[in-house]
Amino acid sequence: MIAATPEQSVLHRALLGLEGVLNRIFGNDLNPLYHLGALGFYFFWVVVVSGAYIYAFYKTGIELSYPSVEYITQEQWYLGGIMRSLHRYASDALVLVMVLHLLREFILGRYRGARWFAWVTGVLLIWLIFAAGINGYWMVWDKLAQYSTVSTVEWFDWLPIFSEPMSRSFVTLEVLNDRFFSLISFAHVTIPLFILFLLWVHIMRISKPVVNPGRGLAVGMLLALLVLSLVEPVLSQGPADMGIEPRNIRIDWFYLFIHPLLDVWSAGQVWALVAGLSLLLAVLPWLPSRFKQIPVAVVNLKDCSGCRLCVADCPYEAVVMRPRSDGMHFLEEAVVIADRCVSCGICAGACPSSNPFRGEKDFVSGIEMPSITMSVLRTSINNDLAALVGDVRILLVGCDNAADVARLRSESVAVLSLPCTAMFPPSFIEYALHEHLVDGVMISGCRENDCYHRLGVLWTEQRLAAKREPRLRSRAERERIKLFWVASPDFKELESELESFRASLSVSQQKYGI
Ligand code: HEM
Ligand code: SF4
Ligand code: SF4
Repeated sequence: MIAATPEQSVLHRALLGLEGVLNRIFGNDLNPLYHLGALGFYFFWVVVVSGAYIYAFYKTGIELSYPSVEYITQEQWYLGGIMRSLHRYASDALVLVMVLHLLREFILGRYRGARWFAWVTGVLLIWLIFAAGINGYWMVWDKLAQYSTVSTVEWFDWLPIFSEPMSRSFVTLEVLNDRFFSLISFAHVTIPLFILFLLWVHIMRISKPVVNPGRGLAVGMLLALLVLSLVEPVLSQGPADMGIEPRNIRIDWFYLFIHPLLDVWSAGQVWALVAGLSLLLAVLPWLPSRFKQIPVAVVNLKDCSGCRLCVADCPYEAVVMRPRSDGMHFLEEAVVIADRCVSCGICAGACPSSNPFRGEKDFVSGIEMPSITMSVLRTSINNDLAALVGDVRILLVGCDNAADVARLRSESVAVLSLPCTAMFPPSFIEYALHEHLVDGVMISGCRENDCYHRLGVLWTEQRLAAKREPRLRSRAERERIKLFWVASPDFKELESELESFRASLSVSQQKYGI
């Protein structure tokens, strides 16, 4: 798996700080930085719906396009005009959330190992989204469209792919035909279809992907787009005239920044920049970095009953069931697809045979993380907890990607940090409490809605609330268990929560005379 080294980068700390501020303003559920992928889908759909409306009134043709867009904008300002503005602003928002999503995944190191697939398909999406956006500007056939078309065509002419320069038919002959318009309007419908297909591919290795930002965020974003559309309606910039070079054009910097760049740099230089950046992004998952790899999950057939719990809990579709191959009386067996596994350990936490009450000295679970097997986990808990002293002894289980629990180790607090808190099976909590090894168990992982391995926080909450297998049994007293979700900048909160948990355990000990 990819584990962040304890030393976080400046960018990582800045991101967590910013997210903390947004959590305080909006709450974790509405924090836009936690829903960037879902917002990307949402803006895509707003673009599709508003685009479909405009398209119904749009006329394809060199003489027809501009007047038809003017009709939509001016005559039908109350609906067509708003739809046009929504179409533009939602497209801009799509680029914004896409770039933020890319940066966030990069800063968190979630682009390496098995995640290369989502990353590389994301890089392809950037190309398609820009192609659709730039092409969209041409449809208006105003001065901006003229500027963008000529600049793009001249740029493409630098590539040795056309026998005759494309720009000649535009600029030299000052002729544009309706076939060209049919072509760009066809492209403006088909490229989004490719985008949709690629979005589906982008998330196909992710279990239960979040593609809907939730009602609050969706309504808030739509209102913001509507207000922007009313306050600053999108207008055309005068009809194109191939005989006159357009001047004083206002450009959309989200999509069209390439053109001013082409004004100052040569086509070859801009190609080198664009191709170089794309290539760098595409190979990034394989370049050396500070994120290190730990071995992926392995199945031990002898201890696998084919119950499918690991399949249900794996956030990356990395476990599949196959017909039994070892002649045992179970129908199926679990198989890990190694190149999809991010080594989060959640499957090991889900497996019913990850059970510390088992009698064998070196027991083996159906699915294990080679870096820390369940048997090793039990031994280390036994040793660490036996050494605790004090009236209130606590086991603090943390996550390698969240607040650093190791700093809270003391003579009465034993500490364990795992790749994900959902690797800790509920039976281990029961074990620690019922074997009288500790008085309380506290589990602390990533902030809510921001689980590094996507589903670990949710699965832990559901297992402990007995809403998901493997359930925490009712004999484990809930008041002796504490869940607390915090990131590294919230260390002080974790420290004080641990103290208040200790105080509450002490109060119940006095109450029950323990
Ligand atoms: C507008 C375009 C994009 C949309 C709508 C989009 C959407 C999504 C969604 C919905 C997820 C799943 C989130 C979850 O449920 O955990 C996701 C994951 C991911 N995306 Fe994108 N994405 C886009 C572009 C990109 C780009 C440009 C990159 C980077 C080059 C990228 C990199 C990733 C990665 C690495 C993951 C996997 C994260 C993980 O493993 O937890 N995406 N994306
Ligand atoms: S749940 Fe298991 S198989 Fe799935 S990604 Fe995590 S460690 Fe790999
Ligand atoms: S959870 Fe364990 S027993 Fe169940 S299918 Fe997976 S490996 Fe086998």
